[in-house]
Parts: sequence; structure tokens; C-alpha cells
Amino acid sequence: MEPPSVTPSRGHSSWQGALLTVSLLLSWGPPTTAQLSIEPVPRAAAEGQDVLLRNPSRAEAIFYNWYKGDNTDAKDGIVTYDVTSKTTTEGPAHTGREKIYPNGSLLLQHVTLADTGAYLLQIIKRTGFPEKLTGQIHVFRKLPKPSIKSNSSNPVEDQDSVTLLCEPETQSTTYQWWINNQSLPENSRLELSMDNRTLTIHTVTRDESGYYECRTRNPVSSNYSDPFYVNVLYGPDTPTISPSAEHYSPGDSINLTCQAGSNPSAQYSWFINETYRQSTQQLLIPNITVDDSGSYACRVHNPATNFNRTTIKNITVSEFVAKPSIQPSNTTVSEHTGPVVFTCLTQHNRISISWFHKGKRLQLTETMELSQDNRSLTINPVRMEDAGNYQCEVSNQISTQKSDSVILTVEANESNSGLSAGAIAGIVIGVLACMCLVAALVYCLWVRKTGRASDQHDPTEQKPSAANHNQECSLPNMANDVAYCTVNFSSPQEPKTPTSDSPPPVVTEAIYTEVKKK
Ligand SMILES: *[C@@H]1O[C@H](CO)[C@@H](O)[C@H](O)[C@H]1NC(C)=O
Ligand SMILES: *[C@@H]1O[C@H](CO)[C@@H](O)[C@H](O)[C@H]1NC(C)=O
Ligand SMILES: *[C@@H]1O[C@H](CO)[C@@H](O)[C@H](O)[C@H]1NC(C)=O
Ligand SMILES: *[C@@H]1O[C@H](CO)[C@@H](O)[C@H](O)[C@H]1NC(C)=O
Repeated sequence: MEPPSVTPSRGHSSWQGALLTVSLLLSWGPPTTAQLSIEPVPRAAAEGQDVLLRNPSRAEAIFYNWYKGDNTDAKDGIVTYDVTSKTTTEGPAHTGREKIYPNGSLLLQHVTLADTGAYLLQIIKRTGFPEKLTGQIHVFRKLPKPSIKSNSSNPVEDQDSVTLLCEPETQSTTYQWWINNQSLPENSRLELSMDNRTLTIHTVTRDESGYYECRTRNPVSSNYSDPFYVNVLYGPDTPTISPSAEHYSPGDSINLTCQAGSNPSAQYSWFINETYRQSTQQLLIPNITVDDSGSYACRVHNPATNFNRTTIKNITVSEFVAKPSIQPSNTTVSEHTGPVVFTCLTQHNRISISWFHKGKRLQLTETMELSQDNRSLTINPVRMEDAGNYQCEVSNQISTQKSDSVILTVEANESNSGLSAGAIAGIVIGVLACMCLVAALVYCLWVRKTGRASDQHDPTEQKPSAANHNQECSLPNMANDVAYCTVNFSSPQEPKTPTSDSPPPVVTEAIYTEVKKK
């Protein structure tokens, strides 16, 4: 049976021996506090760089013990330097990249991210308590070139929102965004995430189009992405057609250009009177005629947004109008006869016609009528005041012409002058009727008076009346204060005059007469 071996492994024998010495020296001492701290050079290190952990102490040491971390666990020992024998002993935490200097400083070569953290230096002195110094080293990765990831590189204006993400995500990195080499402008549609790594453009407009760049920075490096182009699709806007002229003459050229803001560029097409003509931005029609009048529509189409917009321009091609003439049905008529028809003769079609009477714009009376297109004027019946000269005027957008005058003569109708025989008869009868009325009234009063004197007398008895007259005297109650007397009379029918436009004469009249009882 072998006794348990107490022989330590070869590799660590001297390290453990050194620690034992230290432990013995420390065992009776009070806990030490770190007064000085180790300063790493450089303070923030990039991966792969060398970092010197400088020993700031001027104490006269016999041992320097370096540990990874902030306590003196044997397993965390990196290296021990014996000042007296100038020998170096590596500990379990030694990686092969650490080098200790006789003055106690430790050089870390080709640092890695894993080297980040606390380091502790224990200084064993010939007399007095050992010193413990700590320090931190920070190792950062050199930032890689960032890149921008977007969920939409061709957002549609007023429709889409875009998120730009700066990749990759790294520790201790600040993110910054630039647009067209400018820092972010004040814009309520731009929103940054808490870590500034994400930039959201809410409901993009064309103003947010541009080159976006993400810049990253950490303590050891900075980098920037390639620009990312946000291509906001918009439009087409309402097209404009130039030039603005709308009236042309035969022989002119129509040369129209259509323009509409659009991204990508709009596709243009032309329609004349709603019929497709061509797909160009420009429309040229040389040597036009009046038949080229019509609606000219420019339609723009954005192939990416699939939106269309159209602008219509109405173009009239008019000739200079020729002088019109009037064709009258007759020029001499008797008063109250008709009709008289004037026709304005012109070979033009797209024109407007107006009429003149005695040099002034014609005021239509109720005996005048114009045809739908104003080409003919009908007067029926003709009156005295319709006499005089007539002209018609034709005009289009570019010219106006008036016809020569046509004179209408109206001859007075002799039989119709003064009062007609019928009217005279009517007046005579009217006068007679008035006289009869008065007679009837007197008679009624007399009947009442005599009725009161003799009770036997029938008050409603029909009395003989004048020829053509019917008379009723109504006295139903003697107590009544008021009696009504109705007198009806008729007059012979008045002979109708052919040209009269007055209402027919009154044939029957009813007259109510209030008679006060006294
Ligand atoms: C210690 O020695 C190293 C290597 O020679 C040197 O770089 C350093 O400045 C010295 N002093 C301190 C305080 O570390
Ligand atoms: C992009 O992401 C944002 C935020 O998540 C969202 O509001 C937007 O609708 C997304 N855009 C597209 C085109 O998917
Ligand atoms: C984000 O950026 C703004 C300026 O754009 C800055 O004031 C802020 O400190 C940044 N935040 C972070 C976490 O980097
Ligand atoms: C224009 O058109 C008219 C008839 O349409 C023709 O008589 C004339 O020669 C043309 N002029 C030119 C320059 O083509």
C-alpha cells in the first residue's frame, strides 16, 4: 500500500511556494486597502493592442503578484516576480501573453475582449504590510463597417413608413444618423429608437428622399455605413399642359407639352376628344383646321405607384367669321298681322348669334321668339313698335361680324284705328245698364216704403222690370237693418275683333248694393 503522495506537481511547485510565503507573511497582518490604483495604458484598448498595467507604487518590493480579478485566489494568479532572485513564476491564469517587468508593471499583449475586467497587483515588501492595487482594463472590438437594413427602400409617399436599422448591434456603441451628409433635421416624421440604432420615417414624403448614413462610434473606433438611398415614390402630380393658349386659327400648329412631377418618371399619353392619340410628353399637330377643335387630354401614369392623373385642355380652332346676312320672310306688313321671320345666314358652325334692332341689342318682347340656335327671329303678330332696321351679328372667340340692316315697315291697320263698333256698342250698353241699376234701386226703396205702410202687400213680389234686366229685391225679415238687393243684367255679346288681344268683354255682372234701413 502506497502512502498518499503529497508531492505537488512540478509545474506549480514554485508558484505555490511563493504563495505560501506570501500567505505566511499576510496571515498576521490586518486587511489591506488599495490606496493607489493601477492605470492601464491605454485606458480603453482595441482588440489586439498591447496594454501596460503600470505599477504606480514606489514601495520597495520583494515580490510582485498579479491576479486576474479583484482578489488573491491562487487559481487567479497570473505571474509572480521575485525581485531578489529576478525570477518570474507563471500562475494558472497566465495565458502566455503577459509579461512582467522588474518594476512590477504588467504588459498584456494582443488583448482580447476576454481580457476585459479587473486586475490586482499584490506587492510584498520586506517590512510592513503587503500592498494591494487594483485596476480595470477595457478591451473593445474595433467597430466593423456598419450597414443599413430597411424594410422598404421604395416607400410610397403619404402611404408607407420606413424603418432603417443600423447593423450590427455592438456593445458600447453609439449610433448616429446622417441624411445627405447632414445630421438629422428637425422633422416630426423622423423617430429614433432609445439606442439610436433604429430610425423610423413615419408616412414618408418626397422630402425624406435621400442618402441615409449610419455612423457608429465606441471608445476605440468609429465607422460609417455606405449611404442607403431612400427612394420615395410619389405622384404623378396633376399634369400641366403648356402653352396655356386655348384659341387657335386654321393653319396654326398645336404644340403642347405635358409635365407632371412623378417618381419614377411618369408615362405620358394624349387623348383628343377621348380618343387615344399617342404616348409622348409632347403633342404636335401642324396646320390645324377647325376640325382640330376639341378636348386635348394629357394622361400621366406612374408605373410604380400605379396612379393616374389627367388634365384636359379645350382647344377651339376658329376661322375669322364672314359677314352674315338676313333673309326676311317679308319686310312690309300690316299691324297686328304676322308672322315675320328673319333668318341670319352664315356658313359658320361654332359661332354665337345675336340680334340688333335700331342699332341696339334686341330686347325680346312677348310677340318675338328666337330659334334655339338664335338663327331665326319670329315676330307674330307685328306691332307698330317692331318697325325699324334689324341686324344679326355672328361671333366666335376670335372675330365678330354684323350683317347689313333689313328694314321692317309696319303699316297701320285703318279698321283698327280708334274705337271699334263693338266697343262703342259696349259703352252704350254699359251706360244703359247703370241707368237701369239706379232705377232698380229707387224702385226697391219705394217697395219697402209701401210694404211698411200696407202689411198685406207681398214684399218679395216680382215687379216688372226693364227690358233685358232681371231684378230681385230680397227683404226676408222686416227687423233686418240691412237689405241686399241683387240686380243682374246682361249686355249683348260684343263683336270680336280679329286682332284684339284684350280679354273678352264682361257678359254678366252681379252688383251687391248695401241699403241702410232708415
Ligand atoms: C516599468 O518598466 C516598463 C518597461 O521597461 C516601462 O515601460 C515603464 O514605464 C516602467 N515604469 C512603470 C511605472 O511602469
Ligand atoms: C416598416 O416598419 C415600420 C415599423 O415597424 C412599419 O410601421 C412600416 O409599416 C413598415 N413598412 C413597410 C413598407 O413594411
Ligand atoms: C441619440 O441621439 C441623440 C441625438 O440625435 C442624442 O442626444 C442621444 O444622446 C443619443 N442617444 C444614445 C443612447 O446614443
Ligand atoms: C394646310 O392645310 C390646308 C388644307 O387643309 C392646305 O391647303 C395647305 O396647303 C396646308 N399647308 C401646309 C403648309 O401644309
